[in-house]
Amino acid sequence: MSQGATISSARRVVAIYPGSFDPLTNGHLDLISRAAKLADRLIVAVLNNSRKQPLFTVEERIEMIRQAAGDQGNVETDSFGGLLVDYAAKRQANVIVRGIRAISDYETELQMALINRRLRPETETIFLMAREEFSYVSSRMIKEIFSLGGDVSGFVPALVAERLRGKLKT
Ligand code: PNS
Repeated sequence: MSQGATISSARRVVAIYPGSFDPLTNGHLDLISRAAKLADRLIVAVLNNSRKQPLFTVEERIEMIRQAAGDQGNVETDSFGGLLVDYAAKRQANVIVRGIRAISDYETELQMALINRRLRPETETIFLMAREEFSYVSSRMIKEIFSLGGDVSGFVPALVAERLRGKLKT
């Protein structure tokens, strides 16, 4: 066996894609499928933050991600609280994946990546550029458009649009 083959077979990429996912958008979904091709295992990790007032519960968000991303064998969905790097250590993840849509994302993402590297250098943050058609889509905008009666199909999976309609009724 060549040295190259030994190195590549020894290194497994366990990646975490963390976020609020309130709710999951087509941009998130695109990132999940692209990250799943790069990682041996991809853990989509929903932040459980009692200080935020989310529209969907953590359980609802996990269920939507599982349904929408379901057929990708190396993808699992989980939730986490506390520091992301502690969760990464617990899950033995060596990579954090984040998406960048526009230059405006860069500053916050750079700050988070540098803090996370300082806290846990073993975990490397990698960035994937959002596809152009999703570069202006955010969960916050989706909620606003939807609450004002706008059409969000094309921005979110159909099952998420359905759940949003359910939230409006309640
Ligand atoms: O989808 P979001 O809201 O942009 O995701 C932000 C998230 C969940 C990645 C970030 O808030 C996070 O990692 N929170 C966990 C707390 C933490 O580790 N903070 C220190 C690094 S900034």
